[in-house]
Amino acid sequence: MTQRLVELRSDTFTRPTESMRLAMYGAEVGDDVWGEDPTAIRLERRAAELMGKEAGLFVSSGTQGNLVAVLSHTRPGQELIVGEQSHIIWYESGGAALIGGLQLRSISNPAGSFHLDQLRATIRVGAAHAAETGCVALENTHNRCGGAVLTTREVGDIADVSHDAGVPVHMDGARIFNAAIALDIPARELARPVDSITFCLSKALGAPVGSLLSGSEDYIERARTWRQRLGGGMRQVGVLAAAGLVALDENIQRLAEDHANARRLAEGLETIDGVALDASGVRSNIVIADVTGLGVPPAEIATRLRELGILLAPAGPNTLRAVTSYEVGAAGVDRAVSAMREVCANLVPVGA
Ligand SMILES: Cc1ncc(COP(=O)(O)O)c(C=O)c1O
Repeated sequence: MTQRLVELRSDTFTRPTESMRLAMYGAEVGDDVWGEDPTAIRLERRAAELMGKEAGLFVSSGTQGNLVAVLSHTRPGQELIVGEQSHIIWYESGGAALIGGLQLRSISNPAGSFHLDQLRATIRVGAAHAAETGCVALENTHNRCGGAVLTTREVGDIADVSHDAGVPVHMDGARIFNAAIALDIPARELARPVDSITFCLSKALGAPVGSLLSGSEDYIERARTWRQRLGGGMRQVGVLAAAGLVALDENIQRLAEDHANARRLAEGLETIDGVALDASGVRSNIVIADVTGLGVPPAEIATRLRELGILLAPAGPNTLRAVTSYEVGAAGVDRAVSAMREVCANLVPVGA
């Protein structure tokens, strides 16, 4: 009997649940560009309430949400400060530079957060020859930093430094509910210090499509115009919003299981010679393992794992990434650890 594949490449692979599909089937809809889709309106209000903001906006993806968010805070020629490991700088195809005319300036953030002194020194306002800072963007949890969780204190301190200079703060909270569950606090506490926040419905929350941007009424009005300019007005979008509402109702609390499974995976991988990671540092659903010690490129290891039914993704020249979700239970995690042990036992290091 062939065993199911264990999908650990990303939580974006989650497939909609039966309750989402049923909700989509029955969704009440209207033309959202005319502001008449009742299900989209409900979802936007719900997002705003969960984030403790005045208004929300349904957008097609996390990438569109971040782009709309920063364009709505800035003017062309300004600078956007981001962490050098941020999703915005790595995986959003330079949209903020191309479409927003923004200069992206990155500061180091190996553990997710910024050093306040470095942030203070990087923000530039009021000099004619400088691209003045238009926005600071954070990420929580932090994807490329192994799902690192920024605390309310860290977010608050960064927001204070930015606000003292008159600069608004956006938070890419694609996985903000993972951060909230890891910290055992409501997500709105993490959103409180920032001016805008996006979160994704389509990652471990399991909806097929969509993200929400939240902020003040005025800000969301500007964002709605930017969404339209970017072709993000989606008409009977209630079909998608309905799945999003189910995701918020049913799938937030269960994220704790994904975190436990990620920790279980990390604890297993940590025991394999040549695989370097600190399982005690795994706080959410992302595990990044350094495989330099195996002497074989991560892509080669991923190919061998695939032959054993385990899907993991290379995350850099020396790292492999695994992301847990409801597609993977504890048994899948244990299979992944055994497969990794088997692959590693049979590897011939490059040049050996
Ligand atoms: C931190 C973070 N921000 C934004 C995104 C973009 O989301 P989407 O794939 O919906 O564009 C992702 C996607 O993985 C992400 O991990």
